[in-house]
Amino acid sequence: MRLRGRKGIREELEALPQLVVLDAAEYKGKWKEFFGNDKPIHVELGMGKGRFISQHSVLNPDVNFIGVDMYDELIRRASEKALLAREELGLEGYPPNLALLRANIEGIADMFAPGELERIYLNFSDPWPKSKHARRRLSHPRFLEQYAVILNENGEIHQKTDSRTLFEFSLNSYAEVELQMKNISLDLHRDEVRDDLVLTEYESKFIKQGLPIHRCEVVVGEAALAAYRKEKADRRSREAAKEREDMEKAKQHTSQG
Ligand SMILES: C[S@@+](CC[C@H](N)C(=O)[O-])C[C@H]1O[C@@H](n2cnc3c(N)ncnc32)[C@H](O)[C@@H]1O
Repeated sequence: MRLRGRKGIREELEALPQLVVLDAAEYKGKWKEFFGNDKPIHVELGMGKGRFISQHSVLNPDVNFIGVDMYDELIRRASEKALLAREELGLEGYPPNLALLRANIEGIADMFAPGELERIYLNFSDPWPKSKHARRRLSHPRFLEQYAVILNENGEIHQKTDSRTLFEFSLNSYAEVELQMKNISLDLHRDEVRDDLVLTEYESKFIKQGLPIHRCEVVVGEAALAAYRKEKADRRSREAAKEREDMEKAKQHTSQG
C-alpha cells in the first residue's frame, strides 16, 4: 500500500488521545486502564484503513478492539471510518471500545503483556511471497510464539487471506507450533453464505475479483481448547445418534416391506 503522509497529520493524531495511541509501549499491561473496563480485547494486526475493526467495535460493545498499523495516514483514515460507523447507528463520537495503535508489529511483545488479549485477527496480511522473506509473514512461528504469550486462556487467532501460498505456509506454522486449527475453509464465501460477516477492505476487493477467500481459526488458550474439544465430542455424538436413528428407520422399513 503506497501512502503519502499529509502535512500536520501527526498533530491531528496527537489531538485524539481517547482513540489513537502513538507510543507503542505506553499501555503494555494497562489496556484495561485505557478502556476503563476489563472486557476482552480483540486486536487486528495490520488493520489498513480500518473498516473491519471500526464496524466490529460498533457491533460488539462488550468487546474492546485495537487496530494496529504502522502508518499515520492509515490511522487517520481508520479514525474517520470509526466516526462514520457510529454515525450510521445514529451515535456521535468515537466508539468508546476502540483504540488505534500506530506501531510496528515486529515489536508486539512490547505492546501487550502476557495474557492481555483474547483474540488476534490476521486479515489479508502481506503475503511476502519470496521464501527469503518468510520470516516477515505474520503467521511465521516466531510471531506465533509471541502471540501464544500475549493471548489469554480463551485465546484464538482468526486468519483470512486470498493468498494460497500464505495460507499453506500458515497452516504449516500452526501445526509446527502445535496449535489446534478449526473452521478451515478454502472458499469462505461459498461455504458460509451470511449477511452478517464484516468484510475488510481487501476482502471486498478480492470478492469482486471472484477470488476465493481462505479462512482458518486457531485455538491457542487452554479454555478455548477445552471448549473446542467439547464441541467436537458433542458433534460426534449427535452424528452417531443420527446414524443409529437412520439405521433403525431403515430396519423397520425393511421388516415392514
Ligand atoms: C494488505 S493490508 C490488509 C489491510 C486490512 N487488514 C484489510 O484486510 O483490508 C496489510 C496491512 O498491514 C500493515 N502492516 C504490514 N506489516 C506491518 C507491520 N510490521 N507493522 C504494522 N503494520 C503492518 C500494512 O501497513 C497494511 O495496512
